[in-house]
Amino acid sequence: MMNNIYAGKAVKILGITKHTNMERSFTLDAHIHGMPGQFVMVSLSHAGEIPISISGFSSTSIEITVRNVGKVTSKLFQLKVGDKLHLRGPYGESFPLEAFDGQHLLIIAGGTGLAAVKPLLECCLDDDEYKPKKLNLLVGFKSPKHLLFKKELDHWQKKGEVIVTVDTTEGETEAWAGGIGFVVDFVKHVGGIGPETKVVLVGPPLMITNIVRELVHNNVREENIWTSFERHMKCGVGKCGHCRIRDKYVCLDGPVFNHVEAKSLID
Ligand SMILES: Cc1cc2nc3c(=O)[nH]c(=O)nc-3n(C[C@H](O)[C@H](O)[C@H](O)COP(=O)(O)OP(=O)(O)OC[C@H]3O[C@@H](n4cnc5c(N)ncnc54)[C@H](O)[C@@H]3O)c2cc1C
Ligand code: FES
Repeated sequence: MMNNIYAGKAVKILGITKHTNMERSFTLDAHIHGMPGQFVMVSLSHAGEIPISISGFSSTSIEITVRNVGKVTSKLFQLKVGDKLHLRGPYGESFPLEAFDGQHLLIIAGGTGLAAVKPLLECCLDDDEYKPKKLNLLVGFKSPKHLLFKKELDHWQKKGEVIVTVDTTEGETEAWAGGIGFVVDFVKHVGGIGPETKVVLVGPPLMITNIVRELVHNNVREENIWTSFERHMKCGVGKCGHCRIRDKYVCLDGPVFNHVEAKSLID
């Protein structure tokens, strides 16, 4: 009998971490050997199926981090530990880890974009296989109450050079020790940026456009910049054409693209 490539596997929710009112991480009882940057298709009966980046791997589970924006994600937020959802994947191209080995790597993320680069950070900081010679993380959120992965940020701050910024602290009662302003304004505060710096950039399209301009202004070569595309998807495996831009399928050829290619795909 032929395998149904669209059939997901039922997996149990092992844990739920509430980051903010809008964002939660789900630890799933799934044994998936994926790579940083890849995504899974998550489905819930009577709601639908959506692509979500893998935000963490362990030998026995994976983690996904979800922003509650609509039909499927809101249904996901109603689930509890012990409930099941359906999962297929991992899919897509990962970040090119070999290209970062022994290099200066700058990872820039906005908001939930941090979820997509978290496995890359963990791989570069905690594994021995691919080690950048210098690692900078620059991450921006709307305000201090929008911060994700606070515990992990503390851990990464001990191991690498980390700048956390917020657009505003208006309405906050607690003191904020990080930067205030748009992420793009902090690129110049990252030490050692030059033509050979490798950059991974994940966030909203406008942030990507502005930061690429700033990086190029700081002499970073466009072929040293990688981004991850969030595109509406249906099949996730290059069959339906839903994610297609010109001759590229974001689900198959991406979601990670080198900027030289990515800039011709912006429609
Ligand atoms: C490769 C990939 C990785 C992703 N990783 C994550 C992740 O780690 N965490 C996360 O929270 N989300 C992620 N997304 C986005 C996520 O797939 C959408 O938020 C989700 O499909 C929304 O489904 P919904 O039924 O809840 O919302 P809907 O009811 O379908 O839509 C609600 C709103 O979200 C918009 N939307 C729907 N799908 C997308 C999409 N693919 N991209 C951008 N906007 C969309 C709609 O236009 C609408 O405005 C990823 C998308 C892709 C393609
Ligand atoms: S989502 Fe179907 S081809 Fe990419």
